[in-house]
Formats: sequence, C-alpha cells, structure tokens
Amino acid sequence: MKIKAVVFDAYGTLFDVYSIQALAEELYRDQGADIAVKWRDKQIEYTRLITQSDPHNSSGSQYFRSFWELTRLSLEYTLDRLKLDRSSGQVEKLLQQYAQLTPFKENLAVLQKIKSMGLTTAILSNGSMDMLTSAVTSAGMAEVLDHIISIDSIRLFKTSPESYGLVQQIVGVNKNEVLFVSSNAWDALGATWFGFTTHWVNRQGLPFEALPPQPHFSGTDLNSVLMSLGEIEQTPNNTMT
Ligand code: LAC
Repeated sequence: MKIKAVVFDAYGTLFDVYSIQALAEELYRDQGADIAVKWRDKQIEYTRLITQSDPHNSSGSQYFRSFWELTRLSLEYTLDRLKLDRSSGQVEKLLQQYAQLTPFKENLAVLQKIKSMGLTTAILSNGSMDMLTSAVTSAGMAEVLDHIISIDSIRLFKTSPESYGLVQQIVGVNKNEVLFVSSNAWDALGATWFGFTTHWVNRQGLPFEALPPQPHFSGTDLNSVLMSLGEIEQTPNNTMT
C-alpha cells in the first residue's frame, strides 16, 4: 500500500448531518432526533433507489435528481410521515441550515496536517457541487482540499463502482493509492469492495455492517485518520519524480 491521496466522504464525515437536529427540535418539540434520523435514512434510500433503477450505461439516467433535490424531497416525506405541519416555511429553514452544516471540530486541523504531509486531499460525495462548495466554503476548508468531486457528472450515486471510479479519473491515482475515509459504514464497505484502502470514522459507536469485509482501519473521530496514515506507506506528491 502506497497512499498518495486521502479522499473523504462529505455528509456525516466532514459535515455533521445531525447538527440540524437542534433546529428541528426548535421547530418541532421532542421530534428533533427522530426527524434527523428519518430524514437522513430516506435521503440515502432515494439515492439507492434511483441508482439501482437507472441504466449504468451511456444511454443516460432517467430517474436521477440532484442530491439537493433528494434532500428536500426526503425532508418533506419525513415531516409528512411524522404528521408534522410544514406550511410555515419549516422546510426552507431546515434546508437553509443543511446548506451550512456544522463541520466536526477536529476536521480542519486534520486536513491541514494531511496536506502538510504532501498528500493529495479530496472529497468524493453524492452531494451536488453547489451544496458541496457552499459547505466547504462556510467551513473554511477550501484551502486544504485539492479536489471536490461530486457524482453529479455521472449521475450515479455511491455505492456504484462508477462513482468511486471518479477518484481515479479526476485525481489521477490508482485504486491502491487511495485511503478512503467515511463515517458511513455502508460507504466504507462500498469503497472497500471497490478496492480502496478504507478508514471508517465511527463517531457514534455503532457496529460495522454485518456484511464483510471490515474496513482496513477505524477510529472514533477524524484524528484517527492520522494514526492510520502512520501505519501505511505514503508517497507524498512533493517527492514524486
Ligand atoms: C456523501 C453522503 C452520502 O456522499 O454522505 O457525502
């Protein structure tokens, strides 16, 4: 293993998707946690439904909608499912918050450290490019990320092999030169199946997926990525010939 690039998932990994829980709680008393979890689950379910049903070939996708649109639709579904009134701008308020999700506090320093090691840094996300740019900018991370990669260009969500393949195309590295970091167990598994070396950030103390294999590395926050890098051979950009 010679790692040249560290590639991060965005939502849940760099940006705290459950940080909207506080606003949801303000809008709907005692429902914040349930809204946050159901919203996230439905949003990811829609990505899978669409990519599973769309043809994976050059004829183009029939059912694709941007992650931003799916984020709105899954929120509307969740509020309806919980029989909560959404007639007074609640959807807009929650979406506005989603566009500026709170980053986890250690992330910026970890990204800076990885950059200082001479490794390439990137995001690979289901998120639409405008969502990602807005979140990266409001978190002050633009300087420490070499690439922001959205699946928008191929209209196939993770965990399709085509989506992970974007890293090779855009960053210009081989599969075995990538350390892929995600706090979503399903994403860490999909990336491991694809052939990346993987690091699962298990912030919530969850069991890993029951499906094998386990990720190569794991830890409880983004600092643990630095420990994994300590165990892997790296090929920094600045020493490449
Ligand atoms: C992402 C979401 C799915 O791809 O976590 O950023």
